[in-house]
Amino acid sequence: MRVIIESTPEAASRRAAQMVARLVRQKPVCTLGLATGGTPLKLYSELIRMHQEEGLDFSRVTTFNLDEYVGLPPSHEQSYRYFMQKNLFDHINVDVRNTNVPDGRALDFEKYGERYEQMIADAGGIELQVLGIGTDGHIAFNEPGSSLGSRTRLKTLAPETVRDNARFFGSEKAVPRLAITMGVGTILESRRCLLLAFGENKADAIAATIEGPVTAQVTASALQLHREVVMVLDEAAAAKLARREYYDEVESAHRMLETGKLPWIEEA
Ligand code: F6R
Repeated sequence: MRVIIESTPEAASRRAAQMVARLVRQKPVCTLGLATGGTPLKLYSELIRMHQEEGLDFSRVTTFNLDEYVGLPPSHEQSYRYFMQKNLFDHINVDVRNTNVPDGRALDFEKYGERYEQMIADAGGIELQVLGIGTDGHIAFNEPGSSLGSRTRLKTLAPETVRDNARFFGSEKAVPRLAITMGVGTILESRRCLLLAFGENKADAIAATIEGPVTAQVTASALQLHREVVMVLDEAAAAKLARREYYDEVESAHRMLETGKLPWIEEA
């Protein structure tokens, strides 16, 4: 797990956007896993800027979103399909037919979950999965107690998540209590994960995820079992990490490798 700490959410989002852009440039036919919520907004606006100003080409990219609220039609302003159109898809040249957000109005969620998994497999699996994290340590809507082997299915939102998301709906009462979500097992199968977290309200969840035990009580901690995870944090979200000094060391080692300058080797 690589932990990158930037001074601000803006700097962290630019760093994350560079990672996504590098993949899209190297592998124009690729499958991205995407998240919604407040956290990836700046990442998406940076990708839009890269598309508009630098010609970043999404024409052959396929996307799969993590989750969707049950019962909300795509036209609902708080549906995740609406969010993705407004904050990313409408501003880049992705083919909308290649964008997938779970259908919150599916009638048979068990069958639909299997179908979504099959669609991901048919697309060759997810190359890079963008993730946020809940204050209760969830990834996607895998609330505490979710099986770490879970697949796409229906989940009940935890009370913390309902409270956190009330800001988007105007009141707690209006927040849907059910969502269809990729499982932890689905996420662990993506080839790379890129988790973003900003703000002091994420600091406990981030410390538990990176430095705590792997536990279904903090589903993001399952990422410790994944072989290629990058966490991009701002200072506030990183504030409770005990091994901060080491993460900074790793980053300066990466810079040394990039520049080829190893200070412990005397120049001749
Ligand atoms: C959204 C999602 C959720 C959010 C998490 C953080 O698709 O899967 O796990 O990433 O709830 O939400 P924000 O970014 O609003 O703090």
